[in-house]
Amino acid sequence: MFSWLKKDAVPSSPDELVLDPNNIPAHIAIIMDGNGRWAQKRHLPRVAGHKQGMDTVKTITIAASDLGVKVLTLYAFSTENWKRPEDEVNYLMKFPVDFFDTFVPDLIKNNVRVNVMGYLDQLPKQTQKAVYDAMADTKDCTGMVLNFALNYGSRAEITTAMTDIAKEVAAGQLKPDDITDDMISQHLMTASLGEYADPDLIIRTSGEERISNFLLWQMAYSEFVFMTPHWPEFTPELLQEAVYTYQHRKRRFGGLKNK
Ligand code: FPP
Repeated sequence: MFSWLKKDAVPSSPDELVLDPNNIPAHIAIIMDGNGRWAQKRHLPRVAGHKQGMDTVKTITIAASDLGVKVLTLYAFSTENWKRPEDEVNYLMKFPVDFFDTFVPDLIKNNVRVNVMGYLDQLPKQTQKAVYDAMADTKDCTGMVLNFALNYGSRAEITTAMTDIAKEVAAGQLKPDDITDDMISQHLMTASLGEYADPDLIIRTSGEERISNFLLWQMAYSEFVFMTPHWPEFTPELLQEAVYTYQHRKRRFGGLKNK
């Protein structure tokens, strides 16, 4: 039994962990929780946890790319995170600047393309510039997509999509009966991810077991793995263990047969 697993049953021990290369989750989404608690445990300011968390982002990005993951979505800042103390928000807003400044060459070397989804126009100008520059600098990369959810909230995303669809109906471009699941997906912020828009595996670190307004539409058939380590102590080995657990789940998509 893996140390971090609370109740999932897995068939063998981590020593025997062998991943099936043909069943790597195409889209992994991570709720990177526990930065503050990691810092507090060490009597450090909360922002020290975020800083360490940023290094983990780098390590896990390369590990996911090496595993053959197609899309790695990371929940970096939610539409609700503005409620945090101003100092902490300001610190988090500087992250994309520092992160992309130092990491874009590695991303290009690893053929990783950056995408950022969220209400970007509400971010400080410097943050917006860092994000748009990173997307432009990596636009020709054809490997994994590193998809940051930044100033992202799923209810807001769905509300915006509904408003856009309602406007199309009001303009006579669309009939209410023509609205389909696919059409709604097309109006969400994940639309540009195409066939990989919906996460196959969602991981949340730090032992909390909730969704926090993340990808509510897209997670209809996602597998969940909740792990106890805090995000700053998350490792490529733990990522592999989550994938291993995923590979031993039976996905049925509402039907009766295995995938
Ligand atoms: C949750 O921990 C984490 C966050 C709100 C921020 C996560 C952001 C990063 C790891 C850096 C992202 C990097 C880029 C480039 C955008 P918490 O503060 O809620 O932890 P706690 O629950 O222990 O207080």
